[in-house]
Amino acid sequence: MHETCGEIPGAFPGITAPAGLFLRKTITTSSMGIFDLTGKTAVITGGGSGIGRAISVLFAQQGAHVHILELNEEAAASTAAEITANGGKVSVHGVNVTIQADVLQVFERIGTVNILVNNAGIAHVGNLEKTAEADLDRIYNVNVKGVYNCLFAAVPAMKANGGGVILNMASIAALVGIPDRFAYTMSKGATHAMTLSVAKDYLADNIRCNSISPARVHTPFVDGFLAKNYPGKEAEMFEKLAATQPIGRMAKPEEIAQLALYLCSDAAGFITGVDYPIDGGFTTLNN
Ligand SMILES: NC(=O)c1ccc[n+]([C@@H]2O[C@H](COP(=O)([O-])OP(=O)(O)OC[C@H]3O[C@@H](n4cnc5c(N)ncnc54)[C@H](O)[C@@H]3O)[C@@H](O)[C@H]2O)c1
Repeated sequence: MHETCGEIPGAFPGITAPAGLFLRKTITTSSMGIFDLTGKTAVITGGGSGIGRAISVLFAQQGAHVHILELNEEAAASTAAEITANGGKVSVHGVNVTIQADVLQVFERIGTVNILVNNAGIAHVGNLEKTAEADLDRIYNVNVKGVYNCLFAAVPAMKANGGGVILNMASIAALVGIPDRFAYTMSKGATHAMTLSVAKDYLADNIRCNSISPARVHTPFVDGFLAKNYPGKEAEMFEKLAATQPIGRMAKPEEIAQLALYLCSDAAGFITGVDYPIDGGFTTLNN
């Protein structure tokens, strides 16, 4: 990225400025610009796939040391290989975010945490009557307790370090009624509510906490959902799901990562306690 930096005399070699005239000098800075994360430690859960992978790759590209917390270590290793190939810094921690003791151990190993992205999440399709107790528990354990476990581990470390930034991955399901998503909606509503609670309680500790609510993003999450629920009709259903976004398509994981980068960078220093829909018009234009 190029940035102009003040008025500097004689900036262009070979061009003599008349006395008193100042020329603008164009200096080259890194391509990171105002979203520079150099020197920051970023913990990203579920960084092995989809949105978490895109966030991990982008944050490392912007200079952060990225720590991926993943159940699927092979997937995390693949993200790490991409980051390393690009010259970035990354560490992989195989961990199930539902197990508090394991999460605490991982955060203790990491030490200082500047940024936490609670992204790991799972889905369940079904209305109330099609949500068995085991389904509710499974969704709660990953999408709610997993977020709580990472918040519980990261907040004291952030406080000790003079502050930090937290970003939770919610969903449009936290904002509007989506058919057949009883357990998932419960979990994303809780994610949104935890965001507000943490943002409020840790204002004085210089910890910002926000959430993102995407509509459909084309990730393995969506492909898995289609394969499981609409075998043989995946392409047709993909088009139907894409069309539910007024903008006419699903988001790309990289588009969610760009919003995540803004919210986790110092450029968003005045933003806390906010949920950002990134939804191709889903919540406001679908009528
Ligand atoms: N894809 C969408 O359309 C969409 C829309 C709105 C919100 N979201 C949310 O975004 C987040 C990421 O979604 P995605 O589409 O990238 O999903 P994904 O399935 O592609 O990736 C999720 C990752 O989380 C990991 N994970 C799952 N359970 C874990 C656990 N217990 N411990 C550690 N890691 C675990 C998985 O191994 C996987 O790598 C989720 O919270 C999801 O609810 C997704």
